[in-house]
Amino acid sequence: MRVLVVGSNGQLGKELVEACSSHAKTVSLFATDSMTLDVGNREAVDSVVRDFSPDVIFNAAAMTKVDLCEDLPEVAFRVNALGVRNLVQAASKIDAKVVHFSSDYVFDGSSNVPYIEWDEPKPISVYGKSKLAGERELRPTDLCLRTSWVVGRYGNNLIKTVLKLISQEQELRFVNDQFGSLTVAKDLAEKSLEMVLYGLGGLYHVTGQGAASWFEVVRKVVEVVALENITVHPISSADLPSDRKARRPKFSVLENFALKNSGLSLLPKWEDSLIELLGEIA
Ligand SMILES: NC(=O)c1ccc[n+]([C@@H]2O[C@H](COP(=O)([O-])OP(=O)(O)OC[C@H]3O[C@@H](n4cnc5c(N)ncnc54)[C@H](OP(=O)(O)O)[C@@H]3O)[C@@H](O)[C@H]2O)c1
Repeated sequence: MRVLVVGSNGQLGKELVEACSSHAKTVSLFATDSMTLDVGNREAVDSVVRDFSPDVIFNAAAMTKVDLCEDLPEVAFRVNALGVRNLVQAASKIDAKVVHFSSDYVFDGSSNVPYIEWDEPKPISVYGKSKLAGERELRPTDLCLRTSWVVGRYGNNLIKTVLKLISQEQELRFVNDQFGSLTVAKDLAEKSLEMVLYGLGGLYHVTGQGAASWFEVVRKVVEVVALENITVHPISSADLPSDRKARRPKFSVLENFALKNSGLSLLPKWEDSLIELLGEIA
């Protein structure tokens, strides 16, 4: 199987490259990052896809800075929506499949039960709107994995921020009124490759199992790294600095309904994956 990974320098992109490399007998890999292929450039996408002629294109490229998207909506839509269109159109010419990643932020968070794949999206941020627009560019045979709260070994994420904070401060404050499912990038990358090899297409919610607030996630980090002198305080999102421009959904837990019914296993519980990740980062 010939696999193209675009956006390969992000936290998920790097894990996809590693997952494909560990299947070197069956997967022939070509990876591009934002410097070598801008997904918003139609001609460039066409040319790379035509030249490498992949069977599968993993799209890990995205504008993920949620607050910056409010200031730069054109950039958000160019990468998160037009980029997907460019990949799908190039893939159509050679009959390749696109594997795309979307976000819990397509929902407004007003539910108090986990969202299933067929719940009506209602984004409340530019980022969420651009991610929903990207989903709508896909064909039924493509594979779309909606995920949430991605953390991993590579790039910047909340777990790395917390590890840095606890080396400097003894009192931490994190919100206890936003709920989601932590997803470790390595788990997501490996599952997406498994789903392709299993022949799946369509929309799937794929997240770490279980739900928590950021406060609960941070409390778990502190517990695992066994720092007794650190106290984590719960705060409300209203107490956060007012320079956060984008609204976040209060509850964005995704029920992995389609995956549960696919014959494949779910991702591990978020706590178990977090413990493994902390071991790897340490
Ligand atoms: N992170 C989360 O919490 C989260 C939650 C839900 C869903 N997701 C989705 O999961 C996927 C992976 O996210 P991630 O956490 O791995 O994000 P990430 O670490 O920010 O990686 C995104 C990558 O896309 C690249 N990129 C940006 N613009 C590009 C362009 N025009 N052409 C090509 N590459 C471009 C970035 O390169 P530069 O750094 O050079 O700009 C970066 O390497 C995304 O689709 C995201 O929307 C993420």
